[in-house]
Amino acid sequence: MRAAWYEEQGPARDVIRSGEMPTPEPGPGEVRVKLSHSGVNPSDTKRRTGFGGQPHAFPQIVPHSDGAGVIDQVGTGVDGARVGERVWIYCGQWQRALGTAAEYIAIRADYAIALPDGVDLVSGACLGIPAVTAHYAVFADGPVTGQNVLVTGGAGAVGNYAIQLAKWGGAAKVIATVSSPEKAALAAKAGADHVINYREADVVAEVMAATDGDGVDRIVEVAFGVNLSTTVAVLKDNGVVATYASDNAPTPELPFYPMMMKNAQLRWVFMYKIPDAAVIQAFDDISTWLAAGPSEHLVGRIFPLDETAAAHEFLESGQSTGTVIIALAG
Ligand SMILES: NC(=O)c1ccc[n+]([C@@H]2O[C@H](COP(=O)([O-])OP(=O)(O)OC[C@H]3O[C@@H](n4cnc5c(N)ncnc54)[C@H](OP(=O)(O)O)[C@@H]3O)[C@@H](O)[C@H]2O)c1
Repeated sequence: MRAAWYEEQGPARDVIRSGEMPTPEPGPGEVRVKLSHSGVNPSDTKRRTGFGGQPHAFPQIVPHSDGAGVIDQVGTGVDGARVGERVWIYCGQWQRALGTAAEYIAIRADYAIALPDGVDLVSGACLGIPAVTAHYAVFADGPVTGQNVLVTGGAGAVGNYAIQLAKWGGAAKVIATVSSPEKAALAAKAGADHVINYREADVVAEVMAATDGDGVDRIVEVAFGVNLSTTVAVLKDNGVVATYASDNAPTPELPFYPMMMKNAQLRWVFMYKIPDAAVIQAFDDISTWLAAGPSEHLVGRIFPLDETAAAHEFLESGQSTGTVIIALAG
């Protein structure tokens, strides 16, 4: 099969290669998926560069955890009726060497999740990490029914799904922050009731106005450190901040007493370590939400497999709105 891989950590252009490698066979309890698209996440590029001290864990790594395609073989113990099923992939390259930047992946059967009719494969390749992270950030601390939810970065891959899942979960009001009119349109299309351009507006004043002075019960936070002063100002008593990134302020100074005096909760979100029950719940809920349709998927720029290095560079440049995709079919 054709695949892209790297054999040492480093800059994309220096280490990513593409070519032929052996096609995997499904082992017991696995399915083999003929992939049509591979989704690139910051997690993939960060692992390639050793961000946070991550080791180069395998001699040869086919990057990317997310993807979508069609099951073409099953291993022993897996229902043969799954052959032909359209699926999206979860954790394709987490603690495993061979991810989705390849024409085929063999993976445990429950990590190839059925894609409902009406959701195309390129959209399916966007789901994996962003959708499961968004689900956990929204629901880990209980239902959001009737609650006000603030989603920062509402045109981000995770944030856009968080808006949709919070609405699907019955939130009273979903408020999103963005940095441009184009991103505002994406957040609104996802279902945000109120969208704030954080570069131009007074976010605190707008959130309070949008919630009739109440503030928000939940915050799904992409920029924890830099947004802390807003967080403290708009979070209701007993509110929850679920945060999955703090790239620009990795060691923020916490306003301890203001947070304590709200009896606030801080929920760290690290998608790869979500408890199994929550992962299963995420798969179930995402499937139900997708089947109920319509759903929005932020497909960014699409690259051919032999331009995987350029795809990583594009993602790392911060210019992408939507998931960077590698096209594999054809
Ligand atoms: N912990 C986990 O399990 C987990 C899971 C998935 C992703 N992540 C991490 O989460 C981050 C985002 O991932 P992604 O795939 O969603 O990336 P993405 O698609 O690039 O989205 C990031 C969004 O954050 C917005 N943003 C940046 N600074 C902001 C601020 N101060 N206020 C509001 N919005 C802001 C960006 O918009 P503007 O630049 O226009 O503001 C952008 O829309 C990455 O660091 C990734 O590694 C963590």
